[in-house]
Amino acid sequence: MTKRCLTALMMVLIMCLPHISQGAPSPVRIGLCIYNMSDPFVNSISDAIIREAGTRAEMILQDAKNNQNLQNSQVEALLDSGVDGLILNPVDRMASVYLIRMAKARNVPVVLINREPLREDLVLYDKAYYVGIDPSEQGRLVGEMAAGMFLADPQLDRNGDGTMQLILFKGEPGHQDAELRTLATLDALAQSGVQVTLLEEVVAQWERRLGQQRMAALLTNLGDEVECVISNNDEMALGAVEALKAAGWFTGRRWIPIFGIDAIPSALTALEQGTLAGTVINDGEGIARASLQLTELLIAGQPISTANFPWPLENKVLYLKSEPVKRQTR
Ligand code: GAL
Repeated sequence: MTKRCLTALMMVLIMCLPHISQGAPSPVRIGLCIYNMSDPFVNSISDAIIREAGTRAEMILQDAKNNQNLQNSQVEALLDSGVDGLILNPVDRMASVYLIRMAKARNVPVVLINREPLREDLVLYDKAYYVGIDPSEQGRLVGEMAAGMFLADPQLDRNGDGTMQLILFKGEPGHQDAELRTLATLDALAQSGVQVTLLEEVVAQWERRLGQQRMAALLTNLGDEVECVISNNDEMALGAVEALKAAGWFTGRRWIPIFGIDAIPSALTALEQGTLAGTVINDGEGIARASLQLTELLIAGQPISTANFPWPLENKVLYLKSEPVKRQTR
């Protein structure tokens, strides 16, 4: 480079300098690791986090496509790239320990969401937190809603045997929301005094397609026996609705109560149309807001208190509230 070119380059750099030093501080960089973006509920949480972050934080979204090995390498690459924090929705909650240890080794805060790590894994790192919703409360609410509807409307006991013939759709085995919602739902039904015959407990992995397939197969075997369907989430419930519709239900007086959890938009539409009897709010917006704020505070090195974090944390775990949403009439 000639001397003249060098001088010109120096001049340009010097002219730029004041602008650089006076500019806004660069936003923090946060890795957002989602277990599977094709899951509508989790996808909505991811959207809400990115919306909430706006220009305040640069979110780097990674979709693990339901593959824990892929997620491990995504987290490693994010840490290598120097992210300031991680919001992590693990594929396998039992594998969280490995990811928590990786974050700890780089002193990068990690807030886990929706798939709850074991408490013994969470205590391994003081900058590891969990934000989710109490699955037992959600299971109880859906069980109470179903029992209440059954008790209030004797016509729902179609064969008049004083017993609810129930099909229960379960999400992914081992997921806290599948295990604990199922237990709490059955417990709430038992507490309500409604006699229940559990015709089938079917695993449909949170998926509408599987819910539809499994329900269609059950209808072939059970015919009209079923009197109520309770599902660990809306997607599987809506799959069951599709199968029932195809079998001639929801026309004329042929109605059967189906319950889900999440209150995703398509479930709210089904509630309005009368094909879904009830659901429970799974506060994805709340998870988004609380997890982002917590991550930002941890990155800033600020002690978390009720003054800067308005949600109730207990042992680094935040459970947001749930609420039932039901049809008023049928
Ligand atoms: C649950 C939700 C399911 C599914 C699952 C994924 O809380 O009810 O629909 O999204 O999380 O972890």
